[in-house]
Amino acid sequence: MSRRRQVYEGKAKILFEGPEPGTLIQYFKDDATAFNNQKKGVITGKGVLNNRISEYFMLRLHEINIPTHFMRRLNMREQLIREVEIIPLEVVIRNVAAGSIATRFGIEEGTQLTRSIVEFYYKDDKLGDPLVTEEHITAFGWATYQEIDEILNLSLRINDFLSGLLVSVGLKLVDFKLEFGRLWEDEEFRIVLADETSPDNCRLWDTKTGERYDKDRFRRDLGKVEEGYQEVARRLGILPESGPRDLRGTDTLQ
Ligand code: TMP
Repeated sequence: MSRRRQVYEGKAKILFEGPEPGTLIQYFKDDATAFNNQKKGVITGKGVLNNRISEYFMLRLHEINIPTHFMRRLNMREQLIREVEIIPLEVVIRNVAAGSIATRFGIEEGTQLTRSIVEFYYKDDKLGDPLVTEEHITAFGWATYQEIDEILNLSLRINDFLSGLLVSVGLKLVDFKLEFGRLWEDEEFRIVLADETSPDNCRLWDTKTGERYDKDRFRRDLGKVEEGYQEVARRLGILPESGPRDLRGTDTLQ
């Protein structure tokens, strides 16, 4: 693993100091947790695949002018990112009822929502990431109304774009979670997409069979967890050339 100074360790990633001020290195682990850390495990090769998949999505999002923290992938498990001030919100965008919304409102999983729903959760593991409203967000000073507006606007654009991209490879984007940060640029703070976009924080179902290719395979003990992540990379055309056998990966080899 890198000898650079560690800045932060999360459940699935580690952040190291970057080569220049204002940059960080984001290292993708194979560790997986669910239900706010109550379930723990290792998904072999997940870090390598999520690094690739997230790079792919971020690059495609740049092409439609979505600002992100991503700069470039460095190696199998690391990418260079801009340091941003993370807004402490988990922004969940839903197209189909699944997971917590299905439980909360007693809706059958798989029910198409009449419109996409954006939800905000306060990012705090100790509190179990509670669902919050715009009132809480502004009253507690986590973000301004203007920032919320920008986050909603970006989230819906990202949803439309990724839904189309994924449907073209036979995957339905059921729901997903985004995180945003503030980047100081041209004398002002700009909202940019941060964190990662990968099967760890999406629900992806086969459009024909409904087969799940995401972290629910781990959360719900559905088996073939590694294969789920590999299938997403394979459909996007970005499975490492040497194939799944290479996914254990030396930490930082190209
Ligand atoms: P949920 O149905 O459990 O609320 O999850 C909605 C989406 O958000 C799903 O695609 C998984 C993702 N998610 C995360 O990325 N991190 C989390 O901590 C949780 C609870 C969900």
